[in-house]
Amino acid sequence: MRINEAQLKSIIDELTLDKEQLKEVASALRFDMELALQGRESSMPMLCSYIGMPTGQEKGEFLALDFGGTNLRAELVSLKGDCQYEIVKMVAKPLVTEEYNLINGSASAEKVFDFIADMFGELLEGAENKTYYLGHTFSFPSQQTDIYNARLLVWTKEFAIPGVEGEVVNDLLQAAFDRKGLSNIKVVAVINDTVAELLTAGYQYPDTQIGCIYATGSNNCYMERTADVGRPAAIINMESGSFNKLTPSQWDNKLDEASEKPGRQRLEKMVSGRYMGELLSLTVQHLLNLQEKPEFTAIDMSGIMADTTAVASDAAKVISVKVGALEPGEAAYIRDLTEAIAIRSARIVAACFAGILWHVSGSGKIAQQHIAIDGSVYEHMPHIKENVQKALYEILDEEAGAVTPMLLKDGSGLGAAIAAAVASKNI
Ligand code: BGC
Repeated sequence: MRINEAQLKSIIDELTLDKEQLKEVASALRFDMELALQGRESSMPMLCSYIGMPTGQEKGEFLALDFGGTNLRAELVSLKGDCQYEIVKMVAKPLVTEEYNLINGSASAEKVFDFIADMFGELLEGAENKTYYLGHTFSFPSQQTDIYNARLLVWTKEFAIPGVEGEVVNDLLQAAFDRKGLSNIKVVAVINDTVAELLTAGYQYPDTQIGCIYATGSNNCYMERTADVGRPAAIINMESGSFNKLTPSQWDNKLDEASEKPGRQRLEKMVSGRYMGELLSLTVQHLLNLQEKPEFTAIDMSGIMADTTAVASDAAKVISVKVGALEPGEAAYIRDLTEAIAIRSARIVAACFAGILWHVSGSGKIAQQHIAIDGSVYEHMPHIKENVQKALYEILDEEAGAVTPMLLKDGSGLGAAIAAAVASKNI
């Protein structure tokens, strides 16, 4: 066997966070949240979203755009009041296929937003004369000045479309609708996907105060009820993926150096689906002493961990597609490594929740509540859900009993529609 056990153990140790370290992460995150809220230097921007929790009585037909991962979604959503809704119609398209790539440097703002406008043309065919208000879930760090105006600060998740950073994204979107003869669509709101998730949860589980995306990217928002921090009481998009007080391993540093934006999104690069597979690739390359770096994805990781047998023959199949034939015993060791990467991710996500819960509860007790989580990693990756829960107990002791993390899917569309309903009230 090519794997040296001592070397494997040292990599896994480097990727393991114990209970005390978790508590330190949670405290440091709370500290950075509060620095930013006071307008002081912090690794997280804590961006005001200019919207609070919904009443559940929002009504009407609205358009929703979900722009934040590798799939775009255009939706027509009907809000019926009394927390009822229906997704009437949806058009979904990938941003990257074998034929085109709309997220890298070869794309342009105009190309991407025209592509989006065409999707709404398809969605609305035959109804181009009716006025529709649109809410835009744009899942990248953006500085807002009101519910409509948000300038993209910096691309994340390895997106690199030229001509969008620094721009008001809703202006780019509205201009594309106008170019395409779809001026009946009025863009009225923009929100982050975490905010969309929290709005959606608030519609159905009113005790929810934290919205989390645990997918290609990683981020949290929460309802900030104190208005005395120089901002209105509103949901704050933390951009917790940019938190940088974690101790990175040498693998995290290697990954960061080779990324589109070195130095940025350090928490996200340790946690999210876009990067976990890359961490596995780097560590397996080292362990097996491979010339070429294999290309593992988060989906491969799920496949490897789904095999819980001692011989790990199904896991071996997934691994050997990337690295060639394995010697006996190697697959089970690589699965141990995969688990270490996944479990660390879940524990860091839980530490973020704990930091936010501490901030929100101040010197009081943590209130009974749900935490709304959406995303492929939380939904599908083995070991994630139970490790989030377990780590919450390690950090919060019995107070963790007040908190119920829950998977709540497809919040981006509904949240965008709710935001459009709130914003269009004032039009
Ligand atoms: C972005 C966030 C977003 C998260 C999840 C991160 O890369 O910066 O704005 O909420 O991904 O999509």
